[in-house]
Amino acid sequence: MGKIAIMGAMREEIEPLLSHMDNIKETHYANNTFYEASYKGRDVVVAYSKIGKVFSALTSILLIEKFRCEMVLFSGVAGAISSDLKIGDLIIADGLCQHDLDITAFGHPYGFVPEGEVCIPTDVKLRAIAKEVAISKGITLKEGVISTGDQFVACGEKKEWVAKTFKADALEMEGASVAVVCNALNIPFFILRAISDSADGSADVDFDTFLASSAKVSADFILEMVERV
Ligand code: ADE
Repeated sequence: MGKIAIMGAMREEIEPLLSHMDNIKETHYANNTFYEASYKGRDVVVAYSKIGKVFSALTSILLIEKFRCEMVLFSGVAGAISSDLKIGDLIIADGLCQHDLDITAFGHPYGFVPEGEVCIPTDVKLRAIAKEVAISKGITLKEGVISTGDQFVACGEKKEWVAKTFKADALEMEGASVAVVCNALNIPFFILRAISDSADGSADVDFDTFLASSAKVSADFILEMVERV
């Protein structure tokens, strides 16, 4: 069995993972820290990228190419778009798109560049494992489109635009860039998010209030998945 990468964007998103790991070995590389460890007998490499698409692309490339991980599981928080998502609820991405990628001036749809695709699908087997975990824990798991951009969205109008343009259910700042990397390198990947805010006028306050608790909800779920992959 190969190594599993578990990544987040912020320290708060990986701390609840690291507290369960054994034999942690830290490697400092590329202005970041990578934690090689074992979890219930599985070899894992845990890292947080820092916020945004560029840092998350860099970290996912390194987890794959330098640390030789054979799958990438992302755990973290997101802003809700769908009205059935409340703070602390979990969503898994069936696909990810970039809401800030815009060459519409040349007649292309939002989120599209030539030779790319608007929405990159996640691994179907990993999604199936997530659904098994959800059933076994009695948790409701939403599955939908997650939209990514280098912007913390705290405005109802912007949120509605992302909802309408991409049929997205949640938004965050790293998933689609991890998707681009894993898709290009043919690595199965999975993106899980627990809701920290509703991407509206109170998103900044809610985010600060619920980051730690929602990050833990996501991390606990990811750890259950690691046991089954
Ligand atoms: N991650 C969590 N909440 C978010 C928001 N409102 N916008 C972007 N990323 C987020």
